[in-house]
This record gives sequence, C-alpha cells and structure tokens, in this order.
Amino acid sequence: MRDLPSKDQFKRISEGFSPDPFNTNSLKAEAYVDPAWNQVDLNEIIAKTWQWVCHVEKLRTPGSFVTVEIAGRSIAVVRDREGELRAFYNVCKHRAHHLLTGEGQTTRIMCPYHAWVYKLDGQLVRAPETESLTNFNTRDICLDQVQVEEFAGFIYVNLDPSARPLREVSGELETEIRHWAPDIEKLTFGHRLTYDIKSNWKNVVDNFLECYHCPTAHKDFCDLVDMDTYKVTTYGIYSSHMAEAGKGTNTAYNVSNATVRTHAVWWLWPTTCLMRYPGRSSMIVLNIIPIGPDRTLETYDFFLETPEPDEAELEAIRYLDQVLQREDIDIVESVQRGMSTPAFTQGRIVHDPSGSGKSEHAVHHFHGLVLDAYAKAAP
Ligand code: FES
Ligand SMILES: [Fe+2]
Repeated sequence: MRDLPSKDQFKRISEGFSPDPFNTNSLKAEAYVDPAWNQVDLNEIIAKTWQWVCHVEKLRTPGSFVTVEIAGRSIAVVRDREGELRAFYNVCKHRAHHLLTGEGQTTRIMCPYHAWVYKLDGQLVRAPETESLTNFNTRDICLDQVQVEEFAGFIYVNLDPSARPLREVSGELETEIRHWAPDIEKLTFGHRLTYDIKSNWKNVVDNFLECYHCPTAHKDFCDLVDMDTYKVTTYGIYSSHMAEAGKGTNTAYNVSNATVRTHAVWWLWPTTCLMRYPGRSSMIVLNIIPIGPDRTLETYDFFLETPEPDEAELEAIRYLDQVLQREDIDIVESVQRGMSTPAFTQGRIVHDPSGSGKSEHAVHHFHGLVLDAYAKAAP
C-alpha cells in the first residue's frame, strides 16, 4: 500500500478554501496529482459513498447478476432466488479467487478455482473434498456482504457497512428525478460510450459541474440549451443543473421533435452524473471511475424509450462522442498537466449570486465535500 499523506499535509490541504463562495480558492493541486491523496480518495471517498452500478432492468429477475469494480475491488450484485437484491465482495472465501465475471444469469455461484459453490445469498453450500476436515462447516462460511440499494431506477452500492441509506442522505433527489423522468424505470439500455482519460477524477467532476466554460469551449452546446435559463443549485450531497432547450436552430443535434424540452442534470456525490437531454425521453448516466492520480475511466450509458436509438438520438450520441466529449477531455487533460507544474497551486472560484450556469458554485460545493472527507480521514 502506498504512503498516505503526512499529518502536515492533512493539516494544510484545506488552505485557501473558504465556505464563502465569493471569497475562496479551489481545492489545492496536490489533491489532484499526489498519489497519496489518490489513496485517500479511493479509501475514504469512493469506498465510503454510494456508487452507481446499473439500471434496475439488469437485475430484475432472480439469478441475474452484475459485477463492478469500486476503488479497485470487485463487487458482485445479485438478485437472489427469493427476489432480494444482494451485493458482496466478488472474492472466494477459500483462497480469494474471483467468483463471477461480467454480467448475466446464474443459479449459483461456483468459484472457477476449486469449485466451491455458494447460493445467491452468499452462503457456502458445497466445498469438494472437505469431508475429513475437522472444525469445518460450510454453514459457517458466507461471502462478505456490501450495502446495496435501488434508487430512482438505478442500483447503487456502498462499501461502507456503516453508511446511511442513499434514500436518507440524498434529500429530495429522488423526488426531483421522478418529477422530470417519471418513466425512469421503463427506460431501457440503448448505447454505451467509454473513455480513458489522462486526468484525475476530480478534474473530470470539476469540469462537469460548471458551464462557465461552455461559451468558450462548447459553442454548439450554447445553442442546444438556452443559457439564459441555466440554473445550478447545490444541496447536501448533490447538485442540479437545469436549462430549457434552445429556441432557435442549433448545430449540436436536432431537437425539433423533442418531447422533453428541459435539460435536467444531476450530480450525485462523488462520481455519478444523471442527464436528461432535450429529445425523446431518456436518461444518460455518466459514471466517473477513478483509476490512478492521473487516470480516470468514464462510461456514458444511454437509457432510452427503445433499445434502438432513433435518428435524433443517434445524432445526439454522435455529438456527445465526437464533439462535446472531445472538447471536455482535451480540457481536463490540459488542466491535469497544468496542475502537475510548479506554476499552479489553486485558483479563484468564480461565483455568480444568481446561480447561473456561468458560475462555479457547484465546483466549490464539491470541493467542500472532498475537504470534509479529508478532515474525517485525518490522523
Ligand atoms: S479459491 Fe475459490 S474454491 Fe478455492
Ligand atoms: Fe464541458
């Protein structure tokens, strides 16, 4: 295991940051470049918060399962025979081999190493050649369970056994999502885009949380939505980013037949972004997956009315993939390189009191949550 930040580093990491958005700097660059802070991010943030797994459709039937990596640990989420949703470390209790791979349907969990067999609730039921062992009973062995929750159409897990339920800590988020996307559970998977980015995950989140950069970096986007209506609001552990679809023509993609006219976006601490773009009914989930201090994976999943995207959605997917994402990835990779030089420690947060999209108060909100997590982790 890598070294953690020193006591002194913990003490100084919040320097320059103030709860007052009018008078504060951003989180210090060392939190984005130092492997020691990345270790803290994985253990104290990613492994202690609610992490997005998939849409409920993937885990509807008994025996369905999905595996994911969270903070580098493999987790399996399963619908057991009794219909209960379960999650556990995807690690065999015999000699730690992984158990399930990918996703699919199964009646039991058999380890590919020595064929120990577990029920879908994690209970060991068979261990070949163990009859003559003393003091060994399969009934005493069960996979390590992890908290799992169905929330507004999606499944989330939390590796912290003492974490409070997502429903309890997320205020009005579910009500808001269901208000804008009442059909969220009926949507179905349509498309996935993936990206491997040379930047710290927090730079990806920072960039997602403000549209101050939109007029310079995303000209098409500023026609797609009406920037004058763009409003960003922060709450406990999430923020909402709302705007009306642009009225005139735009160069991003065709919204002339759009039934959804509002661009409704939510960010859920720390790494989940939910987006309902103008068009047919849809929800796009951007899952931000921290890999190393300067490496982040992203998955963009499109949940649509039908598994086949329509013409406008294909255009929207192309626009996101070939225009918007390229622009944003260039930005965050450039920022990461800049932060790795001695020329940058932290910068000023730009705050507009009207809470418009051209304000960085949601970035400031995120930095506050990161610093709270660091303060809790301090030795
Ligand atoms: S490690 Fe799983 S059966 Fe041996
Ligand atoms: Fe952007």
